[in-house]
Amino acid sequence: MTADAATAPTTGLTAALAHLDADRDAALERLFALLRIRSISTDPAFRDDCRAAADWLVSDLEAMGFAAKAHATPGHPIVLATDHDSDGPHVLFYGHYDVQPVDPLDLWEGDPFEPALLSRDDGSRYFRARGSSDDKGQVMTFLEACRAWKAVAGRLPCKVTVLIEGEEESGGANLPGFLDAHAEALKAEIALVCDTGMWDAATPAITTMLRGLVGEEITVHAASRDLHSGFYGGAAANPITLLARALGQMHDAAGRVQIPGFYDGVPEVPQSVLAQWAQLSFQAETFLGEIGLSRPAGETAHSCLEQTWSRPTAEVNGIWGGYTGAGFKTVIPAEAHAKVSFRLVGDQDPDAIRANFRAFLAEQMPPDVRLSFAEHGGSRAISMPVDAEPFARARTALTEEWGRDAAFIGCGGSIPVVGLFKRQLGMDSLLVGFGLEDDRIHSPNEKYELASFQRGARSWARILEALAAR
Ligand code: BES
Ligand code: ZN
Repeated sequence: MTADAATAPTTGLTAALAHLDADRDAALERLFALLRIRSISTDPAFRDDCRAAADWLVSDLEAMGFAAKAHATPGHPIVLATDHDSDGPHVLFYGHYDVQPVDPLDLWEGDPFEPALLSRDDGSRYFRARGSSDDKGQVMTFLEACRAWKAVAGRLPCKVTVLIEGEEESGGANLPGFLDAHAEALKAEIALVCDTGMWDAATPAITTMLRGLVGEEITVHAASRDLHSGFYGGAAANPITLLARALGQMHDAAGRVQIPGFYDGVPEVPQSVLAQWAQLSFQAETFLGEIGLSRPAGETAHSCLEQTWSRPTAEVNGIWGGYTGAGFKTVIPAEAHAKVSFRLVGDQDPDAIRANFRAFLAEQMPPDVRLSFAEHGGSRAISMPVDAEPFARARTALTEEWGRDAAFIGCGGSIPVVGLFKRQLGMDSLLVGFGLEDDRIHSPNEKYELASFQRGARSWARILEALAAR
């Protein structure tokens, strides 16, 4: 449907939207307070900060009338809150308060944990801070929508449970156990996940596919100690060369991954979906041009959009070993290391991919070289049942807020919890987020548009009502 066909909002919704508009400055102050907390989950040095972020969320949720608690885990706390004082359906909101590390710090144009509100010549505004887009800004769009509904109507349109974790960016090892332990409380009619993006700055989106992820860390062990490369060079196995060569074999000249069995379970994208994507008028040149590149580097048999949304990948995320400091050192190191990740689609099995990758490397190593591996998580790809009722309702609500038809889009990223919700709780997820491609998530100078924050909150206010309508 188009915005012209939009139905008139109810008085409750009109009031909630007006409240959000009137309360904008205070909402931004609240978000900035959360952004100042250095909740980097992967680095043990920031453990107390992660707890502080969880505690901050608990206070904020309690202030608007939720029953809220930060549950201790072997890792970082998980925030769980409920407000079921509604006759509407039960929805579970999910987000994460943890953020990625900030390095390289010298590329930031300001302190990553001192949010700065900035303006462009065209009048648009945005704020820069680690976590502004991924995911604190997005989390607060939902909490602000709840706050507004509570303020104007005394209660929410739906029964709402809020789950905000602190280990999304670092493996999320403690979440599956928590979901099992709290299955009764968490099981809702649908999960609302705010950790994805819009199609573009003017077009809202519901993400319908997420890729899975397998993370592996590899060490190649060669000689029993670092060696002088003149004394031993030529005779001693060089682990860096061996590792680089083996990883270099992962792709053929057409970009296909060479690991045996890698494409088992990779589906063809249905024509209907490809037709919908074709309507999105995607320009590979623009997409890549913005990051200083010009041509898609993946499988030559697939378009750029397919390469990021519907095809699997094998990527080296880090590789190190030997001497990398100032000056020069003639060394053959004893070890070389790499971190490699795979994005999965369709029915690709994370365990099979991991096993096949390990065998693929092992086969390429000479006899007296040893490999060791460490796992960094594994999750399957997932796609949503977009024909289900809540998806249509959310789409209409988004269309009404933004005055443009909401798009159903794919997404190259991974949000492992969505698969856990499906498998452990039998629950589908509605993925609505307001991030933009140029938000620089995980990079220096991460930002979030003020419009994403403000209209995101208005969007959730509408979606909550739309899901409750009988
Ligand atoms: N919010 C992102 C996922 C995402 C990325 C959504 C790009 C939309 C566009 C999420 O926080 C994230 O970064 N996930 C990680 C996976 C995790 C297991 C480290 C990812 O995709 O790399
Ligand atoms: Zn995220």
